[in-house]
Amino acid sequence: MHLQPKDVGWIELICGPMFSGKTEELIRRLKRAKIAKQKVIIFKPSIDKRYHSKKIVSHSAQELDSIAVRSSREIMRLVPLGTDVVGIDEAQFFDRGIVRVAEQLADSGIRVIIAGLDLDYKADPFGPMPQLMCKAEYITKNLAICMKCGNPASFTQRVSGGQKQILVGATDSYEARCRKCFKPFVDK
Ligand code: ADP
Ligand code: TMP
Ligand code: MG
Ligand code: ZN
Repeated sequence: MHLQPKDVGWIELICGPMFSGKTEELIRRLKRAKIAKQKVIIFKPSIDKRYHSKKIVSHSAQELDSIAVRSSREIMRLVPLGTDVVGIDEAQFFDRGIVRVAEQLADSGIRVIIAGLDLDYKADPFGPMPQLMCKAEYITKNLAICMKCGNPASFTQRVSGGQKQILVGATDSYEARCRKCFKPFVDK
């Protein structure tokens, strides 16, 4: 059990493979902050148009309104004075500047809650996620369920769509896999 921080900001990071409940967990924390009447603002990278151009949406169709931004720099000027909590989804797609943005927000007393994919389909660290993990006070790593064998899954298998690192998608292109069933290439 953590001591509850007081009069100070901090960074929470939620990571894990696709389908592991990162967005659900982000939405749960943000909804509870709203119930506590805290001022909440949510961002996502505009590249993520998978389920909705503006909302953050989980694979289980839970959603919350958000602002889609093209770069981390936009976030700083869009956070109003008096904001208590900043939520950020799909952090793996952001530029490296997202690390400094998260730090500056936390330094100014804001609770920053970030969700993102830690590993890409080759099991290499994705974008700014390693730096965010180092800078966060609190880290939650979720696991999904392996679609081959039912074990806990920490990897994301690409099953179609080519070899570029960035390919926005869901069950059309990806499935969760355990260490035994995962292959670090496109496995059709
Ligand atoms: P993430 O943001 O980590 O991709 P979401 O929060 O959007 O995950 O969605 C999690 C939901 O995905 C689960 O509650 C479940 O309904 C669904 N789901 C689909 N495939 C799987 C899987 N292989 N393992 C676990 N949950 C899955
Ligand atoms: P999710 O973790 O919320 O399901 O979203 C992950 C997004 O990242 C999804 O749009 C697919 C994308 N993605 C890539 O662009 N490259 C990859 O290598 C992997 C595994 C996912
Ligand atoms: Mg998600
Ligand atoms: Zn497996």
